[in-house]
Amino acid sequence: MNRRVCDSSAEHVGRELELAGRKVLVTGAAGGIGQAIVAACVRQGARVAAVDRVMAPVPDGCGDKAVPFVADLTDPGSTDSLIAEVITELGDLEGLVNCAGVMRRGDLLAIDLADWSAAYAVNVDAVMRLCRAALPALFASSTGNDTASIVTIASQWGLVPAAGHIAYNSSKAAVVSLTRSLARDFGARGIRANSICPGEILTPMVESKLATTGTKESELAAAIPLGRLGRPREVAELTTFLLSERASFISGAAIEITGAQQVG
Ligand SMILES: NC(=O)c1ccc[n+]([C@@H]2O[C@H](COP(=O)([O-])OP(=O)(O)OC[C@H]3O[C@@H](n4cnc5c(N)ncnc54)[C@H](O)[C@@H]3O)[C@@H](O)[C@H]2O)c1
Repeated sequence: MNRRVCDSSAEHVGRELELAGRKVLVTGAAGGIGQAIVAACVRQGARVAAVDRVMAPVPDGCGDKAVPFVADLTDPGSTDSLIAEVITELGDLEGLVNCAGVMRRGDLLAIDLADWSAAYAVNVDAVMRLCRAALPALFASSTGNDTASIVTIASQWGLVPAAGHIAYNSSKAAVVSLTRSLARDFGARGIRANSICPGEILTPMVESKLATTGTKESELAAAIPLGRLGRPREVAELTTFLLSERASFISGAAIEITGAQQVG
């Protein structure tokens, strides 16, 4: 048993940047939430591999601290080489953020089976493969009191399903369980793993939903007790906290960030 004990607030006093010197891989880095996570990680002192199937723009102020990698995460043949290239570039890996995801709509009778498969390919299978490929590097970096951290951007709908989104809901439920399983299986080897379950966050994914359904942002906001949609940087703040040793005893959690909205 190789359980790590990280105590003492004293260790963290005076540590200005919570991810100073850390190497982090972020997927979905070209998307609304992914861009905010890349920027927040760099602001907190990390060097970031910014992975997406399209070239992720380097957010303002990141310079060479954010290195874009183009990869289709649904391609099973390219995962190991992606991790190898990232390690070559960054040196090692202490954090993995699974943020790439796709939304597919429809209840079980309406949904096209290709959409079902697409949701699972990105939201579940790609996360499983990337975690599997990254674990050896994460084990190697979790020495001493420092744990390595996996953060999966799941969804509130993975906890409580929203009507008419069976593939998205159930794929996000699967990835919450996958992430908790990693926490249970590999905690003793220095891995923390947590899911973030956002509600409505104003990104291109939600803008496209508003456009498709003809809903106004104000109508969506009216269902949220805080009276507005969330912002990508608010999800990014929680992500950098979970990546950092400030969250040293948080593992196996699924944390909602929803403005107190209830679905279902
Ligand atoms: N926006 C919200 O309200 C909201 C709510 C709950 C959960 N989420 C989750 O947050 C994450 C980010 O969402 P977002 O709103 O920023 O969406 P987004 O569409 O802006 O970004 C998703 C990114 O994933 C990338 N991606 C998709 N398939 C890929 C693949 N096969 N290989 C590599 N990259 C791929 C896309 O290119 C895109 O840049 C997703 O997992 C989403 O399910 C978002």
